[in-house]
Amino acid sequence: MNLAGRNFLKLKDYSPEEIRYLIELSARLKKEKKEGIPHEVLKGKNIALIFEKTSTRTRCSFEVAAYDLGMHVTYLDPSGSQIGKKESIRDTARVLGRMYDGIEYRGYGQEIVEELAKYAGVPVWNGLTNEFHPTQMIADMLTVWEKFGRLKGIRFVYMGDARFNMGNSLMVTCAKLGMDFVACTNREYFPNQELADYCRKVAEETGGSITLTEDVAKGCKDADVIYTDVWVSMGEPDEVWEKRIHDLLPYQVNAKAFSYAKDSAIFMHCLPAFHDLNTGIGKQIHEKFGLSEMEVTDEIFEGPRSVVFDEAENRMHSIKAVLYATLLK
Ligand code: CP
Ligand code: NVA
Repeated sequence: MNLAGRNFLKLKDYSPEEIRYLIELSARLKKEKKEGIPHEVLKGKNIALIFEKTSTRTRCSFEVAAYDLGMHVTYLDPSGSQIGKKESIRDTARVLGRMYDGIEYRGYGQEIVEELAKYAGVPVWNGLTNEFHPTQMIADMLTVWEKFGRLKGIRFVYMGDARFNMGNSLMVTCAKLGMDFVACTNREYFPNQELADYCRKVAEETGGSITLTEDVAKGCKDADVIYTDVWVSMGEPDEVWEKRIHDLLPYQVNAKAFSYAKDSAIFMHCLPAFHDLNTGIGKQIHEKFGLSEMEVTDEIFEGPRSVVFDEAENRMHSIKAVLYATLLK
């Protein structure tokens, strides 16, 4: 498998074999790290990390992964460069491409990261756009594989806003890997028809399936994984909270939803999560709407089914695999 020089913009661009390779490589690099086996195979290389939205996991994963591989990193925060304000993406790409061996981008529209990749001349990695979050996918699938020892045939249920980056990416990834993906949510929040049709075609070839349902009992029946994400994503206005809470509260991941799932079912979340009142936004929502937990109850988040911190750790190992595979000649 040779992925050297490739961009990593969305999993639609990757074959099932390539995705499986990245998951296996993540597992290998994770093992090496745990065993203290150094892997500074990219010494002398430099990468730039552009964040137009904030981040904890993705930023730290790129930095630690790069250092472990022997590389140096420049972090450009949401206000710390000319990007988008005084300089176009196309010009930025051509400047940074002359200095760096690869560029990570987190921001708004998918078209921005695609444009960056078109002009950079070096690999570009998508660290999250409104439409896709591909590095999260490798971590999530590594986590599922670690817990169940397989991916094919896993019934993977996503509850909440399935039209945004997480719902879209999980549906594509599950389809490519022959998994049974279920979006269980209010129909206004179903993934768009075109992407669902694409995924159904892919699933036909891989032996997977795509189901969209508003029925929680049906959707969560025999689930292996129940996954959710915040109801309001970065970049969305505060005004949408009221309607989101109204529309998505029936799809909160709670004990009732898990009562339909398999006994072995696990809970996953890309994080950050609103499961208690220990966040600024959590407190504001509580004051305004009286809700003390949102997309997932604290009971489930803190309970024995939750694998969210294994999943968060896997962000680093899997981002390392993406850097390794695309940069190592
Ligand atoms: N899951 C995730 O992307 O987290 P950050 O926003 O903290 O990077
Ligand atoms: N849907 C969330 C994912 C955060 C990792 C957002 O875009 O804010």
